[in-house]
Amino acid sequence: MALSAADREALCALWRKLGNNVGIYATEALERTFLAFPSTRTYFLHLDLRPGSAQVKAHGQKVAKALTLAVDHLDDLPGALSALSDLHTHRLQVDPVNFKLLGHCLLVTLARYYPGDFSPSLQASLDKFLSQVTLALTSNYH
Ligand code: HEM
Repeated sequence: MALSAADREALCALWRKLGNNVGIYATEALERTFLAFPSTRTYFLHLDLRPGSAQVKAHGQKVAKALTLAVDHLDDLPGALSALSDLHTHRLQVDPVNFKLLGHCLLVTLARYYPGDFSPSLQASLDKFLSQVTLALTSNYH
């Protein structure tokens, strides 16, 4: 479903609030994904996946940068994420179901850090945003 003006406003306001901490939350979401949904680890067997690992942290920073780029390009997610889409579909061949799992863990992580902000409507806006990001990253499958 397309992002409404209210969704965009809520996302941009949240991102301003997250500031420089997006990497911390993305890292925690990755750690949570690897523990809660161990099948996702199969794509990262070349990395040290233990909680607190510098490699997971470095990867979390990259994911955070991509998410921030997406928030800055809500009008053209497929364009902004096209190189990443090629990477995930052609080179890594990530099964699209995994995006839902990581997205779920991102929501849970943000809800834990920002319980006061995490209204059902913010949850809905974030969920829509993550679905659009997933669509952009997996569009090459179709
Ligand atoms: C919100 C969804 C996602 C975003 C924004 C994202 C973003 C990224 C970024 C920015 C990179 C680094 C690209 C580079 O180094 O040039 C990357 C690499 C990678 N991603 Fe994703 N990703 C997402 C979902 C997933 C999922 C669900 C999986 C599999 C469970 C996955 C598996 C990988 C793997 C295996 C790499 C390569 C890691 C390495 O060798 O260092 N990604 N992703």
